[in-house]
Amino acid sequence: MTTTSQPPQSHAAAAGCPFSAQAEAFDPFTGAYQVDPAEALRWSRDQEPVFYAPKLGYWVVTRYDDIKAVFRDNILYSPRNVLEKITPSTPEAMEILQGYGFALNRTLVNEDEPAHMERRRALLDHFLPQNLEPNQEMVRRLTREKMDAFIDKGRADLVAEMLYEVPLNVALHFLGVPEDEIETLKSFSVAHAVNTWGKPTPEQQIDVAHGVGRFWQYAGEVIEKMRAQKDGTGWMHHTIRMNAEIPEVVTDSYVHSMMMAIIVAAHETTSLASANMVKTLLEHPQAWEDICADPSLIPNAVEECLRYAGSIVAWRRETTAPAHLGGVDLPEGAKLLIVQASGNRDERQFEAGDAFDIYRADAQEHLTFGYGSHQCMGKNIGRMEMRIFLEELTRRLPHLRLSEQDFTYLPNTSFRGPDALWVEWDPAQNPERRIPQLRDQHLHFPVGAPSRKEITRRVVISAVRHEAEKVLGLTIHGADGRSLPAWSAGAHVELCIGGFDRKYSICGHSADGGYRLAVLHEDAGRGGSAHIHAVARAGLPLRLRGPSNLFRLDEHASSYVLIAGGIGITPILAMADTLKAQGRPYALHYAGRSRETMAFLDRLQADHGTALTLYSSADNRRADLARIVADLAEGGQIYACGPDRLISALEDLTAGHPEGTLHFEHFSTGIAGLNAAEETPFEVELCDSGLTLQVGAGETLLDRLHAAGIDVANDCREGLCGSCEVGVIEGEIDHRDRVLTRAERAENTRMMSCCSRAKDGARLKLA
Ligand code: HEM
Ligand code: FES
Repeated sequence: MTTTSQPPQSHAAAAGCPFSAQAEAFDPFTGAYQVDPAEALRWSRDQEPVFYAPKLGYWVVTRYDDIKAVFRDNILYSPRNVLEKITPSTPEAMEILQGYGFALNRTLVNEDEPAHMERRRALLDHFLPQNLEPNQEMVRRLTREKMDAFIDKGRADLVAEMLYEVPLNVALHFLGVPEDEIETLKSFSVAHAVNTWGKPTPEQQIDVAHGVGRFWQYAGEVIEKMRAQKDGTGWMHHTIRMNAEIPEVVTDSYVHSMMMAIIVAAHETTSLASANMVKTLLEHPQAWEDICADPSLIPNAVEECLRYAGSIVAWRRETTAPAHLGGVDLPEGAKLLIVQASGNRDERQFEAGDAFDIYRADAQEHLTFGYGSHQCMGKNIGRMEMRIFLEELTRRLPHLRLSEQDFTYLPNTSFRGPDALWVEWDPAQNPERRIPQLRDQHLHFPVGAPSRKEITRRVVISAVRHEAEKVLGLTIHGADGRSLPAWSAGAHVELCIGGFDRKYSICGHSADGGYRLAVLHEDAGRGGSAHIHAVARAGLPLRLRGPSNLFRLDEHASSYVLIAGGIGITPILAMADTLKAQGRPYALHYAGRSRETMAFLDRLQADHGTALTLYSSADNRRADLARIVADLAEGGQIYACGPDRLISALEDLTAGHPEGTLHFEHFSTGIAGLNAAEETPFEVELCDSGLTLQVGAGETLLDRLHAAGIDVANDCREGLCGSCEVGVIEGEIDHRDRVLTRAERAENTRMMSCCSRAKDGARLKLA
């Protein structure tokens, strides 16, 4: 049992970082954090992304990138404090716990390396997608039974009548634990959550200690029962057998601690997430209606619910050495509260992060399942349950609505979901009264992360203009008068039309929020732009993916130099508009073949005249990039979009500049697809799972990872977007992407799995 870290008055002073008033006041057990953790920490995301909270004794981390960095490095940021009591026990409570022999120790989630990985590898098999698939039927059956019981009532508390019990039953079944004591387990789970993540008063600590102590004893009894069932099935039976086979890896202490921790990990997480999901969707009726009309939206809607209103809102780590995070120096032994709910709304990562959008293409990049080597092993079970709940509810009760109610939550730092969720509907309108077979018709979603490719929104072209020679300007609006999500400079969307998916930067918006795009007819292209030029007309319906932003303006630059080549002007124009509106210093250089081919000249001259320099090859005016770079002010940054030779020249010229000076976006890729005859196969070892995979000459690492059931996000599949990045620990990488800078490539620690390979058939070890 451990206590919270000591107040770091001296660290704060040494780091020159006195507490702000908000940091001083931060209390996660009451007030704003309990109402909405992401909103309560907006000030921190904007001003003080890592701060010390004296009331808690923890450093609080609130931005997406910083949280991910902490999750990624589990050596510097040890998980050893994950199951510590966040509010230390009183001596009386300690005594009670000791009376029960309570000795919760390391499981997986709070275990350090190398013990953690060895254990995780030994216990991973049950969680592989192919082994989870058979559970779908059980989840469906349990869900139906619960729904049958209330479908004719017209009103129900979904938590009490379905969302609590089904995940508990599923968890017990998956674990192989007897399913006979649901009510007891419920009270135990609450005691464990309050004990670990809550702030019980000294009086409450007594009850909580008894609850936790009894849970501990119960877990021990269950293990003994299960040991007697030699041929029992389920993950905990497997664990018990592994305990006999490799006791030095799957230790006795682990088995007892895990038995207690996993019941909560496997079911509270999913129950709360499911209640948050239904609540959020019913609060956004358009999203609910869209899902009722098109259930194929469900897998992504689940990810968006996990992002927007996840059930694990904050997790913990502890530094094992002095660290530097979010501009703050952390001492060794600093305890961190990393608030995923805040990172999940961070606008530096998610376009319009505050908006709930089931069409969001990068929703699955949320941090609710954690990230890195400890990432939730059961995520695909949680996803499976949530998808089935949503599919059954939207199909059988599309007319469901939220009842008037005040929501209450168990006060604690980490587990979040309403205690009750009252919903109502008119049973006379139940569709299966008219169509009885509807009860049994359902979609099947394969286990695993959803594919981004399936996520598109309906839009319509509202205007078409000639912008320049071969450049067509389009204005896009949402179909049926729906508004489109907010976006920031540097964002792009993908137009899906006529079998082509093509990415275009948003270069501005119409007065009523329509996106403005510009499409260059690429003579040597693969037909997508030619098709758009051929068919585009006002009123044409099409599908759109995004917006996403991989080319953001860094708010900390002292000044900005924007450089556009040809159609690369599109994101650059939006950047210039933003910088002008913010009153920041910027210069804009725009080069093209001839003035006739250069889009937006009139608008640029009118809006950015004093900052603008134009270069047209036809007039023999070329940008002197060396001079532009040489003149860059200290702390200035360059943002460039254009042909490869422009970007390469700038990479050469900025080679000696500080990291982060040059930001660029290619608008085309040089990757022409794999030629098996010219490629060499290579081998990869996966640290996470202990698997070794052979990547054939004709396939990508990404293909191979997917085939092995490992979900790696991906979007462009041509080395442009950065979403398929994997970490590399050993082996030389043959980088082929357009995402990493030269310095990042030289580090040899990460690669884009959709295109990059091992050098000369070498072997790679992935993090
Ligand atoms: C770990 C969340 C469902 C088993 C975790 C972690 C989080 C989490 C935040 C820590 C990740 C990290 O440190 O990077 C969730 C959520 C769920 C869910 C939000 C549901 C929506 C489940 C289920 C199971 C499960 C259903 C099992 C049946 C585990 C295990 C770990 C874990 C074994 C430890 C992994 C390790 O440390 O290597 N989960 N979880 N989880 N979860 Fe889940
Ligand atoms: Fe876009 Fe790999 S999927 S870089």
